[in-house]
Amino acid sequence: MSNQLKKFIAGLPKAELHLHLEGSLEPKLMFELAKRNQIKIPYKSIAEVKEAYQFTQLQDFLDIYYMGMNVLQTEQDFYDLTEAYLRKVAAENTQHVEVFFDPQGHTERGVKFETAIHGIHNALTEVGKELGVTFKLIMCFLRHLDEASAIKTLNEAEPFKHLLCGVGLDSSELGHPPSKFINVFKMAKQQGYKLVAHAGEEGPADYIIEALDLLKIDRLDHGNRAMENPALVSRLANSKMALTVCPLSNLKLCGVTDMANHPIKKMLEAGLVATVNSDDPSYFGGYMNANFESIAEPLNLSIADLTLLAKNSFTGSFLEQTEIDQYLNKIDQYVANFNA
Ligand code: HPA
Ligand code: ZN
Repeated sequence: MSNQLKKFIAGLPKAELHLHLEGSLEPKLMFELAKRNQIKIPYKSIAEVKEAYQFTQLQDFLDIYYMGMNVLQTEQDFYDLTEAYLRKVAAENTQHVEVFFDPQGHTERGVKFETAIHGIHNALTEVGKELGVTFKLIMCFLRHLDEASAIKTLNEAEPFKHLLCGVGLDSSELGHPPSKFINVFKMAKQQGYKLVAHAGEEGPADYIIEALDLLKIDRLDHGNRAMENPALVSRLANSKMALTVCPLSNLKLCGVTDMANHPIKKMLEAGLVATVNSDDPSYFGGYMNANFESIAEPLNLSIADLTLLAKNSFTGSFLEQTEIDQYLNKIDQYVANFNA
């Protein structure tokens, strides 16, 4: 890729809207935390960890992802994880983040809800302030577990509601359609949470329709397979539904085999509010800039395309309109200066 394009991407103000904090756990920190907490992990070296990150589908990744998060035990561990992520993205001029965490991934193994949320939220507040990165926090329900467990988690979150912006739905998609979680999403909406869900990553377009009609989501995570259903594409475009697309994740999990065929360009052409995100950057090979770079050349994206993707990341965010407008102005200024 040209240095010019690389430089443009690096300096572009952007927001990340699809990031699992547990998926930002770098092998080096994994080893440090394993040692600190005397947790056994099945790897001898960082090289061995990286070698294990070969996936042919979502479940291959999830098995390793849940194993990796075992090293997170104390509030300080969650703080360190979140701080490391913020320092990475701030260095890439990512100025706003809306991040996920998986409470059940921790409570199921005996770590308290409050331990995870306090560590994460304190880092977002303190380190975010230092770096000038604003944030929203979203807790995801694990869809391979039952709805009763999700409802239990929603109830556990009640004392911490002021720290949370929204709820989401992640983990193994196939066989776990959005319809399994109608009640808990209805309860969450009544409590004022924003609603998002992973749909159409591996699952069919029908799962996206369920997420819209039954869960009443405010934003769609992934959504790639919407492209198989033209009526659905029109619906998403007309309703200005933001899609949090994750290029390197799609490549690593074999949703696409060649970035030249990645659907994000067609999404933009169809008028979808598509955004670029890293999903689980430690596992999928890169943070925000790497994800932008991974599609820029194979899809022949122009400066205007990249600018639109960055703007979409703010218009698709859960920030207030006045805040969004400020960020959009920053992007306009950046582009004007870059072209001058
Ligand atoms: N898909 C579904 N669940 C997840 C992912 C993902 O990419 N990352 C972490 N949990
Ligand atoms: Zn995800």
